Amino acid sequence: MESSTSLPLQHAEYGHLLEAAKGLVDTHADQTHAHLIATGAAMEALAKKFGGDPQTWKVAGMLHDLDWDNLEKDWEKHCGTTLEQMLDEIGSPPELLGDIRAHYAKMYGEDYPLNSKLRQCLYCVDELTGFIIAVTYVRPSKKIGDVEVSSVKKKLKDKGFAAQVDRTQIAQCETLLNIPIDEFIGIVLEAIKPHATEMGL
Ligand SMILES: [Fe+2]
Repeated sequence: MESSTSLPLQHAEYGHLLEAAKGLVDTHADQTHAHLIATGAAMEALAKKFGGDPQTWKVAGMLHDLDWDNLEKDWEKHCGTTLEQMLDEIGSPPELLGDIRAHYAKMYGEDYPLNSKLRQCLYCVDELTGFIIAVTYVRPSKKIGDVEVSSVKKKLKDKGFAAQVDRTQIAQCETLLNIPIDEFIGIVLEAIKPHATEMGL
C-alpha cells in the first residue's frame, strides 16, 4: 500500500454530474435510497476534511450501490453490467465506475485498488452508513437525530447486531484514513443528520 501522502485524492472530477446522479437515485433506488443519500452526504463531508472535490465525492457516494435494488441480492452482479448501463444514462466517465468498483474490494480489488483517498473513504464509510441506519431503526424514536457516537460504538461491539456489517472494514478508517474511529463516526453522523427527512429517518 502506498503511503497516504502519495495517494491522489481522486482520479478525476465528475461533480458536474450531481444533479443527474440525484435523478438516477430517484429512478433506480428504493430499498437502498436512504443508504445512498447517507453515503453521499458522508463522502461530501470527508472530501471537505481531506481536500477533495466535495461534489465529486458526493456523486461517488450516492451512486456506489445504485444497481443493488435491481440485482435480487446477487452479489456476483454487483457493480457489473447493470451498473455500467445505469451510469451510461448520464454519460458517466470511466473513473466513476472505477471508483465505485473499488469499494467492492473482494470482487474488484485487483483491477480497481484502493489507490486514492476517495476510494479509501468510500470503502470505509459504506459499511458505517449502513450500520448507522440499522442503529436508527432500533432507537425508541427511530430518528437519526437521536443517534449518538456512543450508541453506534456500543452496537458495533454487539456482534449479534446487524451481523452482516463488516466491522473491520469500518475500523480501517484508523489505518487507511488515519482517523480515530470515534472521530470517523462523528463526522459521518453529523453529515447524515441534516438529511433525515430526505432519508425518512
Ligand atoms: Fe453501500
